[in-house]
Amino acid sequence: MLTKLKYTEELNVQEVYHQLQLGEQPILIKNFPLDDLYLENFVLQLGEPVIEARNIRGKSVFNVEVSKQNNFFRSIANSNIEFPLHTDCADFKEIPNCIALLCVQPATETQGTSRFTSLSAILEKLSPIEIKLLTQKQWLFRNKQRPILQQEEISYSICYDRITMETFAEVSKEDINLLHKLDALFNNVSFTLFLEQSDLILFRNDLLLHGRSGFDLDSRRLLKRVRLYLK
Ligand SMILES: [Fe+2]
Repeated sequence: MLTKLKYTEELNVQEVYHQLQLGEQPILIKNFPLDDLYLENFVLQLGEPVIEARNIRGKSVFNVEVSKQNNFFRSIANSNIEFPLHTDCADFKEIPNCIALLCVQPATETQGTSRFTSLSAILEKLSPIEIKLLTQKQWLFRNKQRPILQQEEISYSICYDRITMETFAEVSKEDINLLHKLDALFNNVSFTLFLEQSDLILFRNDLLLHGRSGFDLDSRRLLKRVRLYLK
């Protein structure tokens, strides 16, 4: 369910890269240095990060913390509310296939817990007919149309984000029922993980869904996020 490593100066980055290529489970690295530059450089050894103006110094590291602008949360990542299982950047033309999250400050032990579901566990629960439907039916992710399951060379990839799907398009009652059923299935096969300070978790954005539980608004929870395209 989880590959566990411990950060030392001899940590084998190639091993991390290899595990990410396999892609079936998140990789947890304990004791990772709490340093933005360090994280940036570590990720550069694995792939090409997504660079955005809103990130720290306009580079690759984004602060996932409660943050408001004009009384509104800047994004769901910048809120304290629960974030259901999803794919990041579901509306990107090319979706980054990997995410790194470094925990600087967790919420309290029962809050802000991470949740993951692997695509392989999802596929085990779907019938061939359901898989076919999910590879054929197109959904609108803001302005990008794609199916939830995409047939790849030997397996599948997943793209799922109800917030994007339902915010930017009119979704029929029938389709909402289908999404409810999928949510229930995804939750049933999910597992939780509470990130502690200095935990770096890396996972495939195309082979796992991720989410988190809500937490108190005044929590000082802080995660450092980098999205990347694996080499
Ligand atoms: Fe996310």
